[in-house]
Amino acid sequence: MRGDLERVLFDEPAIHRRLDDMAAQISNDYRDRELTVIAVLHGSLMFVADLLRRIPLPLKLDCLSVASYHGKARSSGNVVSKEITAPDAADRDVLILDDILDSGHTLATIRETLETAKPHSIRVCVLLSKKKQRAREVHTDYVGFEIDDEFVVGYGLDFRERYRNLPYIGVLRRELLEQPDK
Ligand code: IMP
Ligand code: MG
Repeated sequence: MRGDLERVLFDEPAIHRRLDDMAAQISNDYRDRELTVIAVLHGSLMFVADLLRRIPLPLKLDCLSVASYHGKARSSGNVVSKEITAPDAADRDVLILDDILDSGHTLATIRETLETAKPHSIRVCVLLSKKKQRAREVHTDYVGFEIDDEFVVGYGLDFRERYRNLPYIGVLRRELLEQPDK
């Protein structure tokens, strides 16, 4: 799988060092409060597992599963919720965790949906944010790393459901993005 990458952007130690800082900041910002964490699956799986174990606060965890890519490398803008659980969001401090902010469609849609539950507060935390003009602007409160507008995989992030199990994050070779699905 390493051979499918053009280069590694963040190795395991670099990711974990950044998670230490993010967790410390989140733990400090929410001290004496009880969080509802909403994880956007599947891409955020590794991030959520590693981040939450560094946050020693009482919290509830809920998961949303959405899809807007349908095997392409660009967002279709049509964000489909595959499973909507009913997160305990009313009057709570909600923290949305996602792997990557790209076009903004996913997080803008999720945020709008959660706002209808009248939470006390909503913040957004992403591991990666692409530096680009977004179709929908999304305010982020916590960002792990800002990256260039390239397609990345690993540490939960996939291309056609592959590469999620890589322990590091890297840029996928461009020609693989253009190959027909098999
Ligand atoms: P957005 O709706 O375009 O902001 O895309 C958000 C979702 O698309 C993320 O949660 C990812 O699942 C997926 N995504 C966006 N960019 C990438 C990438 O570079 N690699 C893998 N998945 C990506
Ligand atoms: Mg995702």
